[in-house]
Amino acid sequence: MRQAGRYLEEYRAVRAAHDFLSLLSTPDLACEVTRQPIRRFGFDAAIIFSDILVPLVPMGMDLRFEEAVGPVIGNPLRSASDVDRLRGVDPVSDLGFVLDAIQQFVRAEPDVPLIGFAGAPFTLASYMIEGGSTREFIATKRFLYQEPRLARKLLQKLAWTVSQHLIAQIEAGAAAVQIFDSWAGQLSKEDYLRYALPYTVEIVELVRKTGVPVIVFAKGVHSCLSELSTSGADVLSVDWTIPLDSVAGTTEGRVAIQGNLDPAVLLARPETIERETQRVLSEARSLRGGHIFNLGHGIHRSTNPDHVQFLVDCVRRLGRQRAPAHPTDAAL
Ligand code: CP3
Repeated sequence: MRQAGRYLEEYRAVRAAHDFLSLLSTPDLACEVTRQPIRRFGFDAAIIFSDILVPLVPMGMDLRFEEAVGPVIGNPLRSASDVDRLRGVDPVSDLGFVLDAIQQFVRAEPDVPLIGFAGAPFTLASYMIEGGSTREFIATKRFLYQEPRLARKLLQKLAWTVSQHLIAQIEAGAAAVQIFDSWAGQLSKEDYLRYALPYTVEIVELVRKTGVPVIVFAKGVHSCLSELSTSGADVLSVDWTIPLDSVAGTTEGRVAIQGNLDPAVLLARPETIERETQRVLSEARSLRGGHIFNLGHGIHRSTNPDHVQFLVDCVRRLGRQRAPAHPTDAAL
């Protein structure tokens, strides 16, 4: 969840000399910025510095990152011939820089498990269709409703590309992989089950054969947590809009749960950070499949790094002791 990024001055210093895509595609630099938060905070695991949109470039999408805008795709998908023109991706020759960065990290930090990652087909398709970030997903939904067969063809291509990319990351040394379906919560339950879940499941099935744990983050998808818990994923990562005790009820110990502190809590005072951390930890006690403490989404660029350190210390301290009940429990 953006361990590395603009909230760290050491990241901004490297970034000042390189644009984002060059940073991602230069293994020495990608390895270095992956290590920065590990050196500073001593997290239990690292996530490789890359981006979910990286595989779209060898597929033929004209991707750039603009300051203050984010990703922009110059040739969004409009027609069947646009989908047919998409190229197959060879994870080694086309995306070898990600694999080199992983290998370098594993050599440099042999005791820190490294998480590889990729975007889920629906989220990737939304960028390809919209041409960038969006609030409403209108072009994407129009595409799904008006061209369902074409949409399925696109999602299928993406599922194959993503699974090959993840397997290559595992072969390069990733100890676990995470699939980000950041915008899946925009779909109705029925459309999620039709256009998102089956493609995520296909990836999970292919990738799990490696024996490496697979984490699925389907942001905002509360209505399908039960289906997700039988999808074959080892871990479900959840945002902050659902309490963990309610997640426990739906997933019934079939998977481990990751999350779910609101990243905005890090913008608050330390007392608030401690209180909210305590709440997540005590709600997590009802999870029978285990809990990985994490944020519910990416860390905001205006976050004070001292607050991240405070959070890590809180989790270590409060997580070790058998967490006392949350203050609201006492009030009941
Ligand atoms: O956590 C990490 O350090 C790992 C690196 C990582 C990045 N992106 C680096 C990044 C990861 C895991 C991602 C995933 C990603 N990228 C997602 C899924 C997770 C999520 O946030 O939902 C998505 C949707 C993207 C696409 C993307 N990349 C967007 C929409 C943006 C712009 C957002 C912004 O804050 O500007 C990016 C840019 C991006 N990806 C940055 C970083 C560090 C900021 C780039 C910069 O330095 O200017």
